Amino acid sequence: MLEGKKIVLGISGSIAAYKSIVLLRLLIKAGADVQCVLTPAAKDFVSPLVLSTLSKHPVVSQLQEGEEWSNHVALGRWADLMILAPASCNTLAKMAHGLCDNVLLAVYLSATCPVLVVPAMDEDMWHHPATRANLQTLASYGNNVMPTQHGELASGLVGMGRMAEPEDILVFATEHFFRQSFLAGKKALVTAGPTHEPIDPVRFIGNRSSGKMGLALAEALYLAGAEVQLVAGPMERNTAFKGIQQHKVNTAAEMFQAVEKLWPHQDLGIFNAAVADFTPATLAAEKIKKSQDHMSISLVPTTDILAACGHAKQAQQFIMGFALETENESANATLKLNNKNADVIVLNALRHEGVGFGADTNRVTLFTKGGESLAWDLMDKQTLAQKLVWWLGEKLKK
Ligand code: CTP
Repeated sequence: MLEGKKIVLGISGSIAAYKSIVLLRLLIKAGADVQCVLTPAAKDFVSPLVLSTLSKHPVVSQLQEGEEWSNHVALGRWADLMILAPASCNTLAKMAHGLCDNVLLAVYLSATCPVLVVPAMDEDMWHHPATRANLQTLASYGNNVMPTQHGELASGLVGMGRMAEPEDILVFATEHFFRQSFLAGKKALVTAGPTHEPIDPVRFIGNRSSGKMGLALAEALYLAGAEVQLVAGPMERNTAFKGIQQHKVNTAAEMFQAVEKLWPHQDLGIFNAAVADFTPATLAAEKIKKSQDHMSISLVPTTDILAACGHAKQAQQFIMGFALETENESANATLKLNNKNADVIVLNALRHEGVGFGADTNRVTLFTKGGESLAWDLMDKQTLAQKLVWWLGEKLKK
């Protein structure tokens, strides 16, 4: 998500500084190049050795290191984004008033990139009129301020002032500063996850889809600039991107109902959900008892959502479908491409290593309407989602 992005992570003296280590790891894992700058007080809370080892850069914590002067201006100009997490009450106040008595403040004052401020402090300090005024001043200078969270604080009190979680900071930063525009103006619909078909009030027929691939696709489309509607079955995780419109459903019928309403207004449909092909003919009103030694459930077919949208497809709409196969992969994928009127089918062949429900990797072959077949190498699902979205971006240009 952040490949090639340069980020300065500024850390000030607050107990929340331990979370900065997690944030640093997440930023690096997302592909960013990160340099850490610390206030003198921050060193009491987090070890520079840990930060320099993880970031693979020396940590900057003084305006002068021995005989050498730290070039804070170069660092401020190097970065695509500066994140101050945690920004303590003291550091916020100094930033708001342009004070420059440590290297973190010097980098902040020289930064030519956007700045994200992530405060952390006790509740009373958070609510103090001086802090409110400082935050307003910082926002008026064009800084982005993340709200604090409600929760347990270092003082033992419970209230506002807790630093945002590292995962949320990563999402906020990605969403606000690094969204691309090659799919700007495009409306996209994604189906994701499994469906659960109820048998009685406590049981259902489901499948092992985790929804990871659909989620990664929705997020990659959103980060490419598209307006995204995510119709999601019961999944392990929801998207953290606030800009993605999420429609939560349980059954195939509910998924179809949601998709049917949205589809006429979309430019692009990605049908990644593992929709149940059959659903119980009747739903037992009470829990079924094990009173007999044999039992059978009568099943009826569900609507094929991809096929329904494929057959209602307008000239400017583009459809990407998926096929999960265990045998005759190419033939079955091509059959689905034609029968469902898709523009491309992405084949997952389950017999390949690293492919399947719950795996973090995937290996696919694309079959297009024009008769192309493109076999891609094994890669993690995030990278695959990005590559599929870039591929779609190129297709939609033509
Ligand atoms: N699909 C759908 N609605 C259904 C069933 C499938 O939208 N009721 C979509 C899936 O999201 C996927 C494609 O159809 O994009 C193929 O799904 P897959 O499970 O591979 O195949 P099926 O069409 O269900 O056929 P089969 O189970 O016989 O392989």
